[in-house]
Amino acid sequence: MADLSGRVALVTGAGSGIGRATAELFAASGAHVVIADTSADNAEGTLKSIRDAGGDGRAVSVDVADADQCMSMVEQIRSAFGRLDFAFNNAGITEVTLLRGEPLPETHLLPLEIWRRVLAVDLDGVFHCLRAELPLMIASGGGAIVNTASLQAHISYPRTAAYTAAKHGVAGITKTIAKEYGHLGIRCNAVSPGVVDTPLTRDVIYRPEYRDSLLAPIPLGRFADGQDIARAVIWLCSEGSAYINGAVLPVDGGYLA
Ligand SMILES: NC(=O)c1ccc[n+]([C@@H]2O[C@H](COP(=O)([O-])OP(=O)(O)OC[C@H]3O[C@@H](n4cnc5c(N)ncnc54)[C@H](O)[C@@H]3O)[C@@H](O)[C@H]2O)c1
Repeated sequence: MADLSGRVALVTGAGSGIGRATAELFAASGAHVVIADTSADNAEGTLKSIRDAGGDGRAVSVDVADADQCMSMVEQIRSAFGRLDFAFNNAGITEVTLLRGEPLPETHLLPLEIWRRVLAVDLDGVFHCLRAELPLMIASGGGAIVNTASLQAHISYPRTAAYTAAKHGVAGITKTIAKEYGHLGIRCNAVSPGVVDTPLTRDVIYRPEYRDSLLAPIPLGRFADGQDIARAVIWLCSEGSAYINGAVLPVDGGYLA
């Protein structure tokens, strides 16, 4: 396991799923973890599990769609720690989250408010975090950023225009940051999780009508869990990946292959 003792890591969407697993692994690697989430209950749950395991963290309430809240989140990190070494910009939603069980509409019928909210959280949210994080990371002498993309940063499925557009955007901004800030010792990469068993997907992926067709294209023959993604994120923040910058890395069991 990487030794990240004394380093400061920010994880957005850290209250559940991939973010929670990654916050726990940052803490187990010795980092101070800032657990950022809209849901105070979810964030407190992650903090408790980190403390129960002997780790160190603090919870911060944030809606990443709000630029001012992202600035304030990083200000709290600056005043508490004076530095930021790692940022995992991971908070995200899908059309399914907002439709709450209703079937996905065809793209020309997608309500504007759903398009706008998915883009606001999944794409604007990453930009809001980056513009807050970068000055503190530069002042810290460098660092590593990982953004959460998706299979849908590479391919699409029908009726997922907003999520697909947002995640393609995340891949694009990841490459821009890599090119622009690499000379300052800041690496920026993205992970593209495949199908991961988390509260975001659990209601859908085990439904009899979807399960087999979702599993069939995964050569490893199983869905991912949060830790599969967390291990890749920690590696992208560690010395082992020192020459990897601007990559959008599938962590998908071979799905895209
Ligand atoms: N689960 C998958 O199969 C899968 C696949 C590819 C990509 N992803 C991406 O991984 C990321 C995490 O997904 P997950 O499956 O762990 O989801 P999840 O729903 O289990 O966790 C997401 C967390 O983000 C928080 N969140 C939601 N909106 C927020 C906002 N505006 N500001 C701050 N926090 C917010 C939620 O409260 C929740 O705690 C997302 O970006 C998602 O698009 C997931």
